[in-house]
Amino acid sequence: MDEKDIFILRKLYENEYVSGEELASSLNISRMAINKRIKSLKALGYKIESLKKKGYELSDKDIIRVWEIKDYIQSSNLFKEFIYLDEVDSTNTYVKQNQQHLESATVVYTERQTQGRGRLSRRWVDLEKGIKMSILLKLLLLDLEKIVPLTLFTGLVINRVLRKHGVQSFIKWSNDIYLNGKKVCGILSELSGEVEGLGSVIIGIGINVNAESVPENIKDIATTLKAETSKNFDRTRLIIDILNEFERELPNFDKYGFSYFRDEYKSFCLNLGKEILINGERMLCRDIGENGELVCEKDGEIIKISSGEVTIRF
Ligand code: BTN
Repeated sequence: MDEKDIFILRKLYENEYVSGEELASSLNISRMAINKRIKSLKALGYKIESLKKKGYELSDKDIIRVWEIKDYIQSSNLFKEFIYLDEVDSTNTYVKQNQQHLESATVVYTERQTQGRGRLSRRWVDLEKGIKMSILLKLLLLDLEKIVPLTLFTGLVINRVLRKHGVQSFIKWSNDIYLNGKKVCGILSELSGEVEGLGSVIIGIGINVNAESVPENIKDIATTLKAETSKNFDRTRLIIDILNEFERELPNFDKYGFSYFRDEYKSFCLNLGKEILINGERMLCRDIGENGELVCEKDGEIIKISSGEVTIRF
């Protein structure tokens, strides 16, 4: 999708219908060329109808308004570029492979992931009308102590934004977002570069938003915002709000670290006070530490955990 396609989508989004002639003359291309573009947009999944004597109509307006996100990025003091891909294997992989040419604070978004990756080498199931994006942050002093909390911080930001949109979400340590006992959002942070040196961190965010349901094989553990609330969410607004909140709070994270957000994190953390299984071991979750680590108790002994697979026993 190029700038001309984005222009066409914008016109269609903002009007009930638009004539091919009008599009052709605004873009200074032929009616035939417009026809061709409409065809390829339809092939990408955009629901565009042809109305006799009127022109084209966008019948499903749940699209990403790339132009609005680009406007936001332009006004942002942190984010530099927004790359919209119709389809890609994985936005994290794309960023990793292209990071030399990408500026720090680039956001890569896609509507379709064919090889979406989750934590612990799992797959991230691709649902329609979701949010799948990666944020590249370069030139970080790769201080491992700070990277784990950065992922927790991102989870907290997303939880805050979802709540602002009326979703009663919670956080499962370390950074899964849950709604009604099922996962709606996951974050995969990946590091590259030298530890204690210059490098980059790629924060991959997947949110199940407007899909009606999830596939049968994950329906006991995952859900979508739509399935739980029967409401449609404005994905463009969610993306901008998440990026904006991330940008607004990053200086606080930089200055004070995770501890600045710890109370809020704790107030939404599902693990606290629960018996949890960590890599097969049963423990009681007592606290979230200054750096976001899980503070657990097992046989009277306090154990701090900063990574691993956690299962909560409700
Ligand atoms: C998890 O909970 O296991 C993490 C899931 C992360 C999924 C997102 S979707 C965008 C980005 N690209 C990927 O391949 N994965 C992340």
